Amino acid sequence: MSKKLVVAVCGATGAVGREMLKTLHDRQFPATEVIPFASARSAGTKVPYGDQELTVRELKEDVFAGVDIAIFSAGGSASLQYAPHAAKAGCVVVDNSSTWRMDERCPLVVPEVNPDALAAHKGIIANPNCSTIQMMVALKPIHDAVKIKRIVVSTYQAVSGTGQKAITELETQVRQMFNLQEPEVNVYPYRIAFNILPQIDVFLDNDYTKEEMKMVNETKKIFADPDIRVTATCARVPVFYGHSESVNIETEMKMSPAECRALLSQAPGVQVYDNPKEKMYPMPIDAAGEDATFVGRIREDDTIENGLNMWIVADNIRKGAALNAVQVAEELLKRDLVRVLPQDRKTFID
Ligand code: A2P
Repeated sequence: MSKKLVVAVCGATGAVGREMLKTLHDRQFPATEVIPFASARSAGTKVPYGDQELTVRELKEDVFAGVDIAIFSAGGSASLQYAPHAAKAGCVVVDNSSTWRMDERCPLVVPEVNPDALAAHKGIIANPNCSTIQMMVALKPIHDAVKIKRIVVSTYQAVSGTGQKAITELETQVRQMFNLQEPEVNVYPYRIAFNILPQIDVFLDNDYTKEEMKMVNETKKIFADPDIRVTATCARVPVFYGHSESVNIETEMKMSPAECRALLSQAPGVQVYDNPKEKMYPMPIDAAGEDATFVGRIREDDTIENGLNMWIVADNIRKGAALNAVQVAEELLKRDLVRVLPQDRKTFID
């Protein structure tokens, strides 16, 4: 390796940040140096990178000189504060928070779906919401083939999507309940152990949650289709890793379940796992730790002219976050988009 390629992972001590380090290492991302950043609380602690341990540094506005790519998963306010400084320093940011997703200057990219959108980047690229990513990977080939007019989605989302503190909360509550103790509730409004919460993120004026509206708005942006109609219900379930989704689509032209299975079995990033006779369908326990988006339970919705139902499952920490971000970084390298002209970067910061 002759050319230097410095990669910063911001939020490296978190659930997604650790997975980003693992994914960079496992996929042999050609970084000459990987630098983990987190808050001042974690500065000096160690995080694993392959069989090495890297020392975590404090994330500050002036740390990006000499960094080529910064992958962020440090929460929305850290992205808002630091990503513009990274972009100004000449670094390309791939941001996993929701902060920049709907900003017109920021491409919102799923590499299997809309990689060409990367060409217009101005220093900050947004990683979509975890639930949106897996739905896009599965629906893109169908949208291209028979045009999806309407999507009705209900999600069953794992606690790891909320971060390390929620993983710990579910573990702790399960232990407390088996010991007949009152479970402590800190992360979610109610107990998550042995429960389901039909609320992810805050409620908006239209009585949908922010998570539900992310699925609506991000789908339109990623498909570059403002007319596609999407309605979502997002629920948190007591699962550690792996988001599941029940998805109903109405299409302009007809596609049979068999045609859909055949199409998706050729689609990048998708694994069809669908054989009702053998009780074969995807579950979070299959998807956890895997890169693919799994699709099963494909069947006709005979209440409308052209409709299909399906069940989509993926590891929310991998394809829903870390893997997608690393794939974006790989695509940037492949397309020689890591260095963009300085005049294109000015827009994020004065
Ligand atoms: P720290 O561990 O020092 O708090 P998760 O999504 O699992 O909760 O992880 C969030 C990640 O983002 C952690 O690595 C956390 O670091 C980091 N983080 C949170 N707030 C900041 C901040 N203001 N500046 C830098 N890193 C932050």
